This record gives sequence, structure tokens and C-alpha cells, in this order.
Amino acid sequence: MKWEDINAHAKQWVKEAGERIRLSFDTTLNIQTKTNANDLVTNIDKEIEQFFIKKIREVYPEHKIMGEEGFGDELRSLDGIVWLIDPIDGTMNFIHQQRNFAISLGVYENGIGKIGLIYDVVHDELYHAIRGKGAYINEKPIAPVKETTVKESIIALNATWVMENHRIDHNLMIPLVKDVRGTRSYGTAALEMVFVATGRVDAYLSMRLSPWDFAAGTVIVEELGGVVTNLRGEKLDFLSKDSLFAANPSLHQSILKDYLKDGKF
Ligand code: IPD
Ligand code: CA
Ligand code: CA
Repeated sequence: MKWEDINAHAKQWVKEAGERIRLSFDTTLNIQTKTNANDLVTNIDKEIEQFFIKKIREVYPEHKIMGEEGFGDELRSLDGIVWLIDPIDGTMNFIHQQRNFAISLGVYENGIGKIGLIYDVVHDELYHAIRGKGAYINEKPIAPVKETTVKESIIALNATWVMENHRIDHNLMIPLVKDVRGTRSYGTAALEMVFVATGRVDAYLSMRLSPWDFAAGTVIVEELGGVVTNLRGEKLDFLSKDSLFAANPSLHQSILKDYLKDGKF
């Protein structure tokens, strides 16, 4: 009952936050940069995170919060119940396109994902999963992930990883990009993970993400039988930044073995 209650609250808050974001489309955004000129944040990212924090603290004062914009707690462990919040995943898209972004909320207990909610605000599509209770899009059950081969797969990744970069040897990525049926790049990790969950893409690879980017998506993908690890095939710890590799099980195995040297790169 506990998780259903938390999920019901989270769902209500996410919908309300979505409405606030939609209303912001007609306002002038206050845009700032964070770690570099392309790492953007707006007043809306900050307001939405603060909105969630206020709601969570009112109803669940004992829960802890990790939020991208820094209004939550400074966490050194994931003990207890922790909310991992990305108020707007895909801020660059939010600013430039007013689409292709999502709200991402994960609820973890002692480091184990229990609830994942990802809300595609513009399409009014809410993806959610409660561990062991299935995954849904707007309350409609999502079918388990289908297995695919490399040759018949569409994979999501940023073009950056196929150019020389300081995170991975791009020579590992080039053959993969050549061998798959197609590549896509949506600029929102949360939606790219639900696309893996729904089979719209078969894998998503990223070299560096933060726990709030993948906390909710991991619950949803795993609930449908997908595999989520870092690029070396190791489990994520949800407290640190890491690379990310989400895929259906057979594809995960073949990409790891045939392209990523079983993680020994
Ligand atoms: C970003 C998006 C993007 C990914 C970046 C993330 P943000 O999140 O998920 O797709 O490539 O690494 O930081 O900053 O828009 O919340
Ligand atoms: Ca993000
Ligand atoms: Ca964000």
C-alpha cells in the first residue's frame, strides 16, 4: 500500500508540474548557464524542483531528496526513502523546441528503485512503474521488451560519442553505428529510456549521466525485462555520475561482448 500511496501522490504532483510547465510556454524564460555555455538551466527548472520539494516535505517529511538543481538534501548515502528528481530532463530542448523534454521522478528505498515516473509534458504521456507491479503509459500496461539483434536495432546515442572524445574510444562506437539499422538522438535521457522500455528504440547509450537522469527510467526499463548498467556492464549505484547502457537483454549482451570488449576498454 505504501508504494501505491507514494505513487498516487507523485502522479498528482507530476501532472500539476506539467501544467505549470505548459503555462510557462507563453512567458519569457530566465536562462542561465551552469558548468559550460551549453549546460542550461531556466527559472522553470528551478521552480519545478522547488514545487516537488515543497510537496514531498509536506506529506513525507522523513523522505530524502536528491534534485538536479540543488534544492534538495546533500546526500552521502541512499539509506531510507530517497526521491531523485530531474524537474526538466532535456532543458536545451525545452528552451529551443518546447518539446522533447520530460519530468523524471524516481523513488528509491535503500538504493533499490521502487517507483519511476517520467512525464512527457507536451504529449501528456505519463510513464510509470512500481517495482513488481508492471509499467504503464497513461495507465495502459506496456508489453515486456522484445529481444532484437544488432542488425535489426535502432539505438539512441549522441553523435558526440562517435567523434573523438575524452570519455570513450570512438573507434569502439563506429562499428556499432555502422552495423545497426539506425541511430537516433533525442537529447533527453529520460525519454530515451522510456523509448527503450516501449521498444521505440532497442538501446540507449550515454557516456556520462547523473542519478536523476536515469533513476526513474531504470525502474521502468527493468520492470519490463530490459537491462540497465553502465557501459562496462556494471550495476549503477544511483549516488554517482556514470555512463549508461539500457537495452533489451539479448542486444545488451551482444553489444557488450562484440563492441564494448565485455567492459574491458
Ligand atoms: C541532459 C539530457 C541529455 C543528456 C545530458 C543530460 P538536462 O539532461 O538528458 O539528453 O545527454 O547529459 O544532462 O540537463 O537537460 O536535465
Ligand atoms: Ca537530465
Ligand atoms: Ca534537468
